[in-house]
Amino acid sequence: MDNDPNTDAGVEGGVGLTALMVAAARAIETHRADSLAQDFYAEHFIRAARAPASWPVRIEEVPDGDANPLWGRFARYFGLRTRVFDDFLLRRAHHGARQIVLLGAGLDARAFRLDWPADRVVFELDRPEVLAFKGRVLDDLGATPKAARRAVPVDLREEWTAGLIEAGFDPGAPSAWLAEGVLLYLPRAAEQRLIDAVDRLAVGGSALAFEIKLGTNSPQIHENPLYRSTKHQIGVDLPALFDAEPRPDSTVELAGRGWSTVNRTPFDFTRQHSQGPRPQHNDPLGGNQWVFATKLDTARLT
Ligand SMILES: C[S@@+](CC[C@H](N)C(=O)[O-])C[C@H]1O[C@@H](n2cnc3c(N)ncnc32)[C@H](O)[C@@H]1O
Repeated sequence: MDNDPNTDAGVEGGVGLTALMVAAARAIETHRADSLAQDFYAEHFIRAARAPASWPVRIEEVPDGDANPLWGRFARYFGLRTRVFDDFLLRRAHHGARQIVLLGAGLDARAFRLDWPADRVVFELDRPEVLAFKGRVLDDLGATPKAARRAVPVDLREEWTAGLIEAGFDPGAPSAWLAEGVLLYLPRAAEQRLIDAVDRLAVGGSALAFEIKLGTNSPQIHENPLYRSTKHQIGVDLPALFDAEPRPDSTVELAGRGWSTVNRTPFDFTRQHSQGPRPQHNDPLGGNQWVFATKLDTARLT
């Protein structure tokens, strides 16, 4: 295995393992009595993987339950994030976005579990090994997508737009994009190229939601008990996977290109849903923000 967390083999190492961690969190969320998001595929990814097969997929399987920093509060965070971005994508699809592009889709099963309007296409971009594992598990289950689904194996640190176009993406038709839990693993220049690409490929009226995390290099993050527990409980050393370069300000970049942008915190949505993580002292989620950006529709102005 290579030292670069992005180039190691398979879904069960480096950054690929983060996709399994989020899937386990979604499985736990699915079976909560007060669930915010339901993904009945999620637990199958965990059972099909080797080491993670022993990870919990129900909160009842966690000895300390909700007091566990990883499978309690952090998993709830992923449940809330899934719900908020499900709502965003469905809203955009109902407002005319015909193409849904998931950047760093991981084991997200939105193409299979959301009730899309007719004739929508979901493009899933991720590393080839992650998409191959996902495809195998879903095929074994006989899962049928509820929209046209195109898996696009790419490395987002390199040129990836040609693969998307080849898979059938039409830059002339409205689109909704999501970069959920992925930008923080990309080098600064790759994030800048990604924003540039979305701006180039998105026609007016299209939208992009993305997650940012401020302060990933701070000692508060590196020494936070949450990240110590992800490392010790499941061998996922998140701060070591976060890209070490200072982050670009993609919200300002998009605003400068004529997009309207809104930054929200997860806690805004906890209030809205009356479920989810609440702020705490030395909060590892304190720098997380979800950004919602819409490209100005100049055709409508004329
Ligand atoms: C934390 S997971 C999030 C997955 C998904 N968005 C979700 O919430 O379930 C991060 C995903 O980003 C993908 N990723 C990270 N770096 C990547 C790269 N350079 N190219 C393509 N995908 C990448 C990983 O393989 C992984 O599936």
